[in-house]
Amino acid sequence: MAEIQTPISRRRFCAGACQAASGATLATLFTACGGSSPTSPSAGPASTLGKLAGQFAGGGVRVNVSGSALADVGGAALVESVAGLFLISRASANAFVAIDAVCTHEGCTITGANTEGYVCPCHGSRYNRNGQVLAGPAKASLRQYATTFTDGIVVIAL
Ligand code: FES
Repeated sequence: MAEIQTPISRRRFCAGACQAASGATLATLFTACGGSSPTSPSAGPASTLGKLAGQFAGGGVRVNVSGSALADVGGAALVESVAGLFLISRASANAFVAIDAVCTHEGCTITGANTEGYVCPCHGSRYNRNGQVLAGPAKASLRQYATTFTDGIVVIAL
C-alpha cells in the first residue's frame, strides 16, 4: 500500500508545489505590472487622444486648434504631419507644449493620455506633458519643440 501511495503523494506534492509556485509567480507579476501598467491609479485610465492634421510649411508644423481638444486649457491631441507625429497640450490660454509622439522605448506612437500625461500603448511607458518619463520601460524623455500661437494656429518650430 505504501508503495502505491508514494507516487500519488509525490504527484500531489508536485501539483501543490506547482500551484504554489504559480500563485507566487502570478502575484509577483501582478505586483511588477502594477508599477509599469499603462495607467496609474491616481491618474485614471488612459483614453485615446484625438488626432489633428498638421500642415508642414516654412520650417514648422501649423495646427488649427479651433473646435478641437486643444480649444480648452488642459486639452491634448496627437498631431499627424508629413514632418512627424507630435503630442500637443494646451498649458494656458496662449501657451502650448509640443513634444515628439514617438516613444523613446521602441518607437511606438504614443496615443493615450490621462490626467498626469501621456501613455504609450505598447509597453505602458508614461510621460508628463513636457515629455519627461514618469514610468518606464522608456528611459529617455521625448523631445520638446518651441511653439507659437497666433489667431487660433499653433506653429511647432522644427
Ligand atoms: S514602445 Fe513605448 S513603452 Fe515600449
